Amino acid sequence: MSDTVDDVDLPYDEDEASQQEKIQALEERLEILEAQNEEMRDKLLDANAENNKYQQKLERLTHENKKLKQSPLFVATVQEVTDEGVIIKQHGNNQEALTEVTDEMRADIEPDARVAVNNSLSIVKPLSNETDVRARVMEVTESPEVSYEDIGGLEEQMQEVRETVEMPLEKPEMFDDVGIDPPSGVLLYGPPGTGKTMLAKAVANQTDATFIKMAGSELVHKFIGEGAKLVRDLFDVAREHEPAVIFIDEIDAIAAKRTESKTSGDAEVQRTMMQLLSEMDGFEERGEIRIIAATNRFDMLDRAILRPGRFDRLIEVPKPNAEGREIIFEIHTRGMNVSDDVDFAALAEEADNASGADIKAVCTEAGMFAIRDDRTEIRMEDFRSAWDKVEAESDESDEVSKTFA
Ligand SMILES: Nc1ncnc2c1ncn2[C@@H]1O[C@H](COP(=O)(O)OP(=O)(O)OP(=O)(O)O)[C@@H](O)[C@H]1O
Ligand SMILES: [Mg+2]
Repeated sequence: MSDTVDDVDLPYDEDEASQQEKIQALEERLEILEAQNEEMRDKLLDANAENNKYQQKLERLTHENKKLKQSPLFVATVQEVTDEGVIIKQHGNNQEALTEVTDEMRADIEPDARVAVNNSLSIVKPLSNETDVRARVMEVTESPEVSYEDIGGLEEQMQEVRETVEMPLEKPEMFDDVGIDPPSGVLLYGPPGTGKTMLAKAVANQTDATFIKMAGSELVHKFIGEGAKLVRDLFDVAREHEPAVIFIDEIDAIAAKRTESKTSGDAEVQRTMMQLLSEMDGFEERGEIRIIAATNRFDMLDRAILRPGRFDRLIEVPKPNAEGREIIFEIHTRGMNVSDDVDFAALAEEADNASGADIKAVCTEAGMFAIRDDRTEIRMEDFRSAWDKVEAESDESDEVSKTFA
């Protein structure tokens, strides 16, 4: 018993105090743990939310990945909707195919609509008509930046174009009062670089009409198989933007004479031209739309396009005469630092056979000669050297075009 005396002897108080201390310590510890637990739970919640976000992202990416792995769709044009199915024509190879569609989709499909087809040529979805083909060939501007003052030596032509294009747009009531149909369009023809495109732009600028430009060559070369539709679109766009001036540049590309060769490209051009002719014929009810066309290959044009009622005026835009050349020199040197010794009348005399575009090139070249000579003022000799250079170049290109003709 004696060996436990110490224990027994320990004061009861002390024991209790230490117990108390222990409990307190434990309680404190518990409190800390609870706080930690709380914190962990918060973190867990955050992590869960984060996890959710990643899960969603993963799903989205998986979906996208799947879509990317799918084979591409092809674009085709509906030719005919028949009882047996829909006849479509693929772009690019022009092959026709008969394909089935669901009744639901059939309601959305009509001839000439563009559709997306899959590998087995089933129609997957119709494409909206607004798909940007139009934008790619047509340039729609409120008003281009060329004015009549920028054009030299074409007074008569300018007058005639204004009469046919501007007047009917500005004073339609005059034509009503007089009792004649306003002219529907003009065709400008003449050698390259004589200001045909400029003239068309200047008219559009003057009239506040929307100017819709389409280049015939692009129509034919870039959008094989879509030419006829694009011509129709062109007139649709014009109707949406009335009053409008439609400018068909290089019309020879779509309205060339039928040639002997019966290649498919030829047939395509024919279809495009037919569409153009029919749009032009139905023109009187079209309201405030005028057409200007231009070509430097008048000889190539199919006579059908020249029949009365299509273009009311055929306006020749020739190379400028000496007087015209002088004015064009003055126009293109307006902003240039030209020495007093420069005599534009003499230059115009010397540069015979120059087109407006040639004269513009001469002015730029003359400036280059001055720069090469470290001068800021352009002298008569610079213009002379420039003309020699431009003349030689244009002779060369004449030779080339003769070889190709
Ligand atoms: N009569 C002119 N007056 C002033 N500048 C002219 C004239 N003719 C041509 N030019 C100049 O030449 C450039 C080309 O002219 P434009 O594009 O109008 O020729 P085009 O007759 O349409 O030729 P193309 O038949 O090759 O299309 C113009 O941007 C202008 O700088
Ligand atoms: Mg032109």
